[in-house]
Amino acid sequence: MTSILRVEGGHPLTGTIVVRGAKNFVPKAMVASLLGNSPSELSNVPLIRDVDLVSDLLRLHGVEVEFDHKRGVMSLDPRNVTRAQRSDIDALGGASRIPILFCGPLLHQLNEAFIPELGGCNIGGRPIDFHLEILRSFGADVDKRPDGVHITSPTGGLQGTVIDLPFPSVGATEQTLLTAVRAEGRTILRGAAVEPEIMDLINVLQKMGAIISVDTDRTIRIEGVEELQGYSHTALPDRIEAASWGAAALATRGDIYVKGAHQPDMTTFLNTYRKVGGAFDIDTEGIRFYHPGGALKSIALETAVHPGFMTDWQQPLVVALTQAQGLSIVHETVYENRFGFTQALRQMGANIQVFKECLGATPCRFGQRNFLHSAAISGPTPLHAADITVPDLRGGFSHLIAALAAEGVSRVSGIDVIARGYEHFTIKLRQLDARVEYIGSIVQ
Ligand code: EPU
Repeated sequence: MTSILRVEGGHPLTGTIVVRGAKNFVPKAMVASLLGNSPSELSNVPLIRDVDLVSDLLRLHGVEVEFDHKRGVMSLDPRNVTRAQRSDIDALGGASRIPILFCGPLLHQLNEAFIPELGGCNIGGRPIDFHLEILRSFGADVDKRPDGVHITSPTGGLQGTVIDLPFPSVGATEQTLLTAVRAEGRTILRGAAVEPEIMDLINVLQKMGAIISVDTDRTIRIEGVEELQGYSHTALPDRIEAASWGAAALATRGDIYVKGAHQPDMTTFLNTYRKVGGAFDIDTEGIRFYHPGGALKSIALETAVHPGFMTDWQQPLVVALTQAQGLSIVHETVYENRFGFTQALRQMGANIQVFKECLGATPCRFGQRNFLHSAAISGPTPLHAADITVPDLRGGFSHLIAALAAEGVSRVSGIDVIARGYEHFTIKLRQLDARVEYIGSIVQ
């Protein structure tokens, strides 16, 4: 069952909303608690589905998880970690990609781990080859069976290693960190991702007793230690959610103060926002994003790993680009299939064409393959209401923005997907004077 949201568009979003801890950090910090010999406390935790899911997975493994939603404070006690039933892991695993990050900590705690069929957004093949190669490199035995991947650690435990990543993958970097901190000896990871969420995971691990250094050339060095303790930490804010509301302000000609938005993690987004013609004011508590009037400008944009323009910012911004004067080009270099959401935007009147070629200065690894990974957006085109179905998390939020910008009444189904990563999004929409209401559910 999934809910349908009725959206009466054509009204600027105005007001203040609060953004809490990052969806792409909090679940990983929760997994890190498994490595400690004492309880951890995490603050600024949002009430989103991915957090619920990881709480359930941790509980299955004997971790006591308590979450005070209102205060956003979570305590995690890993002192009684136990094996979980595979069928129980399976039942939860399919909704997210986080279960794969349990491997290192569980190998250290129990000498075995199990990866079920993984979920997450359908934005490309999303293989796990880097992860399995990394675990093998630490000495783990990786056995792919029809029911999932079974992993065991050798007698004597995991050994530090040298890893060269073929692409600065966020998940593979996290896999390495969560495994290396308690492996014997030194691990060197070259070609690492250095996203702010990864830096905050390093902060957490350092508080737990890990020894980790990050060089300017994407090399991370980890000295394994025998024991780690619990941590107390406040999660960095969600820069994807903050940017999504920024894009919503632009597309609806609105004015949104995002309390909690943090400038240092959003420099590249803010530069692009300004180039498009959006305005922002930064203070110590957040960022005000607004449409200053006049025409928006077209741009050429490439997504990239940090410190480049995030792939997760691309989808919400594309909606605003449909309202910019002239031809915008967006080259997606992180995921091969992240333009599926543009189909609904075309249905709503946007003029968007997608291409297999690399339409950007940097030829990417998708250029020689059959992937529609570049888009040309010609504007401005008025958007009109439509009945649309949410394809994935960020694409879904983009659909919501498009419906809010479009004249008329849209019906957006599959809306529940958005709750995976956007806390209280319908409450926030109402705080911004959006005219939205749930009108029922359908079986998917
Ligand atoms: N890749 C491989 N093999 C692997 C792992 C990754 O080929 O074993 C490829 C992927 O297919 C992709 C690229 O490497 O083309 C980058 O993937 P990465 O591993 O960096 O992504 P991830 O860790 O699976 C996280 C976020 C994504 C975000 C990306 C990039 C989480 C739970 N997910 O995914 O977030 O887009 O990093 O920043 O942290 C979202 O929030 O909507 C979302 C999809």
